[in-house]
Amino acid sequence: MDDVRTQVAIIGAGPAGLLLSHLLAADGVESVVVESRSEEYVASRIRAGILEQSTVDLLRSCGLGDRLDREGDRHRGIYVQWPDERHHLDFVDLTGRSVWVYGQTEVQKDLVAARDAAGQQIFYEVVDTALHDLTTDSPSVTFTDASGISRRLVAYVVVGCDGSFGPSRAAVPEAVRSTWEKVYPYSWLGILADVAPSTDELIYAWHADGFAMHSMRSATVSRLYLQVPNHTPVEDWSDDRIWDALATRLGHGQDGWELTPGPVTERSVLPMRSFVQTPMRHGRLFLAGDAAHIVPPTGAKGLNLAVADVALLAPALVALLRKNDPRLADNYSPDALRRVWRCTHFSWWMTTMLHRSGDPFEEQLQLSQLRWVTSSQAGAAGLAENYAGLPIGF
Ligand code: FAD
Ligand code: DHB
Repeated sequence: MDDVRTQVAIIGAGPAGLLLSHLLAADGVESVVVESRSEEYVASRIRAGILEQSTVDLLRSCGLGDRLDREGDRHRGIYVQWPDERHHLDFVDLTGRSVWVYGQTEVQKDLVAARDAAGQQIFYEVVDTALHDLTTDSPSVTFTDASGISRRLVAYVVVGCDGSFGPSRAAVPEAVRSTWEKVYPYSWLGILADVAPSTDELIYAWHADGFAMHSMRSATVSRLYLQVPNHTPVEDWSDDRIWDALATRLGHGQDGWELTPGPVTERSVLPMRSFVQTPMRHGRLFLAGDAAHIVPPTGAKGLNLAVADVALLAPALVALLRKNDPRLADNYSPDALRRVWRCTHFSWWMTTMLHRSGDPFEEQLQLSQLRWVTSSQAGAAGLAENYAGLPIGF
């Protein structure tokens, strides 16, 4: 077995893993990243679309904001609607903070480019990743690299940034971990379409047929979502059926608003769940991003939460490894979990407020809540503060 030595072994080259390696390198801490997928796959998968203010501030502050500033689309807020009513929530007026449309795919490309330019060692297409000796001074990660060589990465610290299906979370012994989970009784059908968005800012729509959302990726590419039952086969949804459902739920024809359909270039069904595992540290293993927590996508929080974890973890590891100061590292899990639970609640709240539950009593409560967040300053400000994102140290 070939040994590779480094200060921090990072499992996963998603946004959490690559941003962590970038921030550590900026402060003189060396890391090696292992990733089970190929570089091309990681750089092209389609996921989240919205960056909150704190994420943008962080990306700018570490030299990753240039293309975001050129190509990202800053939005003042969102539209929230139900049949016959559409309201704009202006986050800038309500909280002084904005959001940006800049897809996770673009963030990932910027991160890969920055890490490649810096000569970051990343092992792509590894198999059999396993974590060892996590409660010793010399934890390690073993894996087989793309050319079939068995390797051991020996480090001071291991960080699990390996998303919801990676091995890191389960490496914390059952006796010391707690998990909380909620599975929702519906999924999202998401599409990308080669058509100019029919709206200037995102529309979140409550409808008796189910939730719909209109988002976007650029001036020529739209991203839209429909609530569908769990386990819906994607083949059941032809282009015509998708656009008809979107037109109905988004209110085509109301007050002169029109939804323009276009060629669908990608479609997939996404199940929805909330999940948190605590603590986010076990000995020399730290968890960040989806490895520790999953949110349903309605609040646009998944990627932003991964970035917020890393924003806390990077300085904690720098203090630990460069100054032998464990205080920030010792506080990482409780500090990160405050924001995790806030975003877990917000994502649950947005999800349950906007999706058809089938319970007529709950539907009346949803409509009452929607009227409150669109007509009361306090209600609107609460939604805006959470959506545009609380400061990193919250
Ligand atoms: P990931 O991006 O999942 O990165 C983890 C990495 O670890 C992956 O590259 C994976 O290949 C790698 N890995 C896994 N196992 C191993 C292993 N054994 N060895 C080595 N590497 C491993 N959020 C939103 O806010 N809005 C959305 O619309 C939205 N849509 C989504 C759609 C999909 C299909 C998915 C899966 C997620 C979506 N999310 C969305 C969530 C958001 O994309 C995640 O919260 C975000 O990617 C978290 O970043 P991460 O780096 O923690 O995890
Ligand atoms: C997008 C996804 C979300 O979950 C959301 O709340 C807003 C936008 C998107 O993919 O564009």
